[in-house]
Amino acid sequence: MAAKIAVLGGDGIGPEVTAEAVACLRALDRRAGLGLEFEEGQIGGCAIDAHGTALPDSTLRLVRESDAVLLGAVGGPKWDDPKAVVRPEQGLLTLRRELELFANLRPVKPVDALVGASTLKEEVVRGVDILVIRELTGGIYFGKPSERRDGPHGREAVDTLLYTEGEIQRVVEMAFDLARGRKNKVTSVDKANVLSSSRLWREVAGEVAAKNEDVAFENLLVDAMAMHLISRPRDFDVIVTENMFGDILTDEAAMLPGSMGLLPSASLGTRRSERTVNGEKRAAIFGLYEPIHGSAPDIAGKGVANPLAAILSAAFLLRYSLAAEEAAQRIEAAVAGVLADGLRTGDLARPGEPRVSTTEMGAAVRERLARGAA
Ligand code: IPM
Ligand code: MG
Repeated sequence: MAAKIAVLGGDGIGPEVTAEAVACLRALDRRAGLGLEFEEGQIGGCAIDAHGTALPDSTLRLVRESDAVLLGAVGGPKWDDPKAVVRPEQGLLTLRRELELFANLRPVKPVDALVGASTLKEEVVRGVDILVIRELTGGIYFGKPSERRDGPHGREAVDTLLYTEGEIQRVVEMAFDLARGRKNKVTSVDKANVLSSSRLWREVAGEVAAKNEDVAFENLLVDAMAMHLISRPRDFDVIVTENMFGDILTDEAAMLPGSMGLLPSASLGTRRSERTVNGEKRAAIFGLYEPIHGSAPDIAGKGVANPLAAILSAAFLLRYSLAAEEAAQRIEAAVAGVLADGLRTGDLARPGEPRVSTTEMGAAVRERLARGAA
């Protein structure tokens, strides 16, 4: 069954790493016959330069008619003026909202071969396997009013943190569903001792937990979570939280494995479909897949960026949007293989260790894929 994938490379190193992810998908497709079609679109700073908007209509049309989106990264110093009316990040935020990509999955699992790269002690980091699910289309990122204005005491600004019970319920339910295939534990994170929105979050999370008693459940306050994440990260399985807490905690969590260059993410929406894979009917979810790292303008165009997070994002795309679990695992095994072989891009190499380029790393993954069975 054919599948259309929208490829939005974006800015900085985005296009370089996305190209390697697409090349891996093509290589896999040639052997596994997934029927993948790719179409490129613009988003972020490059779209501002070409169209005056971070998310042109043509890109929105493209993603709407696609089965999944592979994204690189957006932003860069060129578009960073705080007074600018259009900003690259708006493209990403509008896309999340327009496509209702309400659940952002960010796994944190250090690779054994690289635990030494973490700034934390090896005994703290080894064996960590966390999935953070960040609510992505609500909360303070989107609440209205959000504005700057002149008040009685001079300049003032307001942002609004609003959640409806339905928004909380659907993302917490997803956390329970995903915990079931893992270590069977959900930690819900809020600031219920201060915020009304968090008290509603805790209430609704508790209601969902009561319907899923086979899964262990706990609530934690976000400040405590920030601490436990680096003192005892092994104790967590699925962590679910609201938009901004999730933004902050996932950057913190990304430091556990030592490099952001290895972490993929999936943003899943409400649009579901059925796909036939190997004669079997399977559920698929529309989603957007991107590495957690940013556009890294300092190394853009130098061919040294680590493409593995983008390649692992492609594995996520296969898993969730194409229901092609076997193909996803083949990519993950190929990535683990090249790391075990000792291949290192600049972000992973220790002083004195040889470094491979972006394209060399991508080629090594494809070579491993070619070695595996079709
Ligand atoms: C992320 C990023 C974005 C966010 C920015 C680029 C708008 O930090 O995906 O975590 O805050 O959500
Ligand atoms: Mg962030």
